[in-house]
Amino acid sequence: MSSRVFRDDLYDGKVAIVTGGGTGIGAATARELGKLGATVVIASRKAENVDPAVKGLTEELGRPVYGATCDIRDRDAVRKFVASVVADHGRIDLLVNNGGGQFFAPAETISDKGFDAVVATNLTGTWNMTRAVADAWMLANTGSIVNVTMLTSRTFPGMAHSVAARAGVEAMSRTLAIEWAARGVRVNCIAPGLVLSSGFSRYPAGLEMIATMRTTVPMKRFATCEEIAWWIAFVGSEAGAYVTGQTLTVDGGKTLWGDWWPIADPAEWPKIELPKEPWEK
Ligand SMILES: NC(=O)c1ccc[n+]([C@@H]2O[C@H](COP(=O)([O-])OP(=O)(O)OC[C@H]3O[C@@H](n4cnc5c(N)ncnc54)[C@H](OP(=O)(O)O)[C@@H]3O)[C@@H](O)[C@H]2O)c1
Repeated sequence: MSSRVFRDDLYDGKVAIVTGGGTGIGAATARELGKLGATVVIASRKAENVDPAVKGLTEELGRPVYGATCDIRDRDAVRKFVASVVADHGRIDLLVNNGGGQFFAPAETISDKGFDAVVATNLTGTWNMTRAVADAWMLANTGSIVNVTMLTSRTFPGMAHSVAARAGVEAMSRTLAIEWAARGVRVNCIAPGLVLSSGFSRYPAGLEMIATMRTTVPMKRFATCEEIAWWIAFVGSEAGAYVTGQTLTVDGGKTLWGDWWPIADPAEWPKIELPKEPWEK
């Protein structure tokens, strides 16, 4: 199974961790890295997400993909998980901090508990995993960290908690990039726009609201999970060797589009179908 974009041996001999690697963007990233020769270890909270993906990706790729349950908010669990990856696979070349989530809510309805939970997952969880991998391997041996964030440069109404956490991740990444540059550790972020992923099924307003969202993208379509995975694979690899501290926006032009230049909607929109992994069909 070959990548549509990259050389098959780009990640040969490398070990990659992908958090949230059982679903959506994370599963697509695990698949892409696996196609490129990496030994991939996925991790998230629920065995019901990790186990079928491990089995499905292993079958697709024809060689083992590994997985573990781990809540990135739990520092002890994170350290144990990272230690097990080093013990089992001998190294960690790439960490993809993709695991995360939030709920859509006007700011005045977000409870303290809800705000804290979103920050704990998306900002502190990213820190927990980053620091554990840095301590256990990368600071002594070099490596690359890619953090999946969201569009933070303008506004994100309904996502005050998450946009704050993700902007924090981007600022933290710029700082770590400088602190760790001389140690051979690069830290970058990929900021996806609207990606048609399994994550969309969690939004209560459902496909109707999602359909409206794509009108705000100049390309008039969502990204696929694979299109985000390509950027993660690119910047995480040797191709990104001179890139650090950057947030790379992958949004079909959404952030750049002002309001004054009309872009006509297509006469007929294609039907929205949420992607499914082969093992879910
Ligand atoms: N889809 C988009 O349009 C979009 C746009 C911008 C950014 N993003 C971000 O991209 C990332 C992937 O999203 P997606 O669209 O692929 O949605 P998704 O399928 O909901 O992916 C989120 C993943 O994170 C894992 N996760 C959540 N909390 C965790 C925790 N505490 N510890 C470990 N893992 C955790 C989930 O697995 P468990 O439930 O098993 O823990 C799940 O696999 C997320 O951070 C998301 O916010 C998505």
